[in-house]
Amino acid sequence: MKIGIPREVKILEGRVALVPEAAGELVHHGHEVLVESGAGLQSGYPDEAYARVGVRVVPDAATLYGEARLIVKVKEPQPGEWPLLRPDHIVFSYLHLAAEPELTEALKNIGLTAVAFETVTENGELPLLAPMSDIAGRIAVQVGATLLHEPNGGRGLLLGGVPAAPRGQVVILGAGHAGGNAASLAAGMGANVTVFDRNRHKQAAMRALGPNVTGLHTYRSAIHDAVLKADLLIGAVLIPGARAPHLVSAETVAQMKKGAVIIDISVDQGGCIETTRPTTWKEPTFVHEGVIHFGVTNMPGAVPRTASQALSAVLVPYVLRLAGPDWREDPALAAGINVEKGEVVLSTIHGRGTGN
Ligand SMILES: NC(=O)c1ccc[n+]([C@@H]2O[C@H](COP(=O)([O-])OP(=O)(O)OC[C@H]3O[C@@H](n4cnc5c(N)ncnc54)[C@H](O)[C@@H]3O)[C@@H](O)[C@H]2O)c1
Repeated sequence: MKIGIPREVKILEGRVALVPEAAGELVHHGHEVLVESGAGLQSGYPDEAYARVGVRVVPDAATLYGEARLIVKVKEPQPGEWPLLRPDHIVFSYLHLAAEPELTEALKNIGLTAVAFETVTENGELPLLAPMSDIAGRIAVQVGATLLHEPNGGRGLLLGGVPAAPRGQVVILGAGHAGGNAASLAAGMGANVTVFDRNRHKQAAMRALGPNVTGLHTYRSAIHDAVLKADLLIGAVLIPGARAPHLVSAETVAQMKKGAVIIDISVDQGGCIETTRPTTWKEPTFVHEGVIHFGVTNMPGAVPRTASQALSAVLVPYVLRLAGPDWREDPALAAGINVEKGEVVLSTIHGRGTGN
């Protein structure tokens, strides 16, 4: 199989789908791998790093799309890339077609096959989404801790406290990949962490993180009481295929401490805190009722090197399976087919978030 790794062209997108080590694995398995010059640069990988592992560096997108059959990229094809796509291409990337009617129409008209990272399903899990949620959860605590600094408009407290100064209060809604990573980092910093989830196993996993972490059930009154005490509130719930439920009302936010911080990671699914709205890394925050709100929908975009490494590692086995002759019989990949030879396979479009 000729596998092509294009340079991402979406604004502010610095990730590359496969870092050189990952591309080298595909070469090792006998595939011919091409990379567009400069594709890895923003993630810290120059062309030479690809050449060293046997990947052929091609000068431009036209050559890459012209020669490769399987296109492995991060973001959904952008309008400028559509003329380069052909009916015999298989595109493997994040797609989010439910939110992109124009792209859906374009892919149908081209007549190609597109497999979406976000709907590849194995053992009931979405393995190609998890690493981005891990990253978003960790960024939420790093950013939240910094926004609490007084020069940034925050309450002026150190999240973990010090002797003679109390620990900060962190409240996290949802104990999945994003929420669990946020809890682990906040606990490591020494904060008092309360995590709400409706799943008892998740509550137990949070409690096991340490004596400063409490896992609780999502009773509305319990959430309300905890949020009023919070210095940092992180939203990270997910109901796959549905809008995030509002677990914190605007009235509750209005009663929060002034200078407290809200990071709603679930904002890409509508948000689980009523007052949040989508923002970008260019203008990441806004203040509502004296509370700093952060609603960036592509949080991992800030750390392209880490994100490319994490994404590559989960992608390699699926790219190898996709490059084989019988990949359509592979249930995990079959669940990922969103467009099959120009036909939209609607049942596979889960409407998952765009925050990756
Ligand atoms: N903003 C970004 O850049 C970004 C990046 C990655 C992921 N995300 C988003 O983060 C969200 C979380 O993703 P994830 O991978 O951690 O999901 P996940 O499925 O691993 O975890 C979600 C958790 O929410 C819990 N939950 C669901 N409904 C609940 C409710 N009513 N009350 C309490 N808990 C509830 C589930 O039990 C589960 O533990 C998603 O919306 C995802 O799209 C955003």
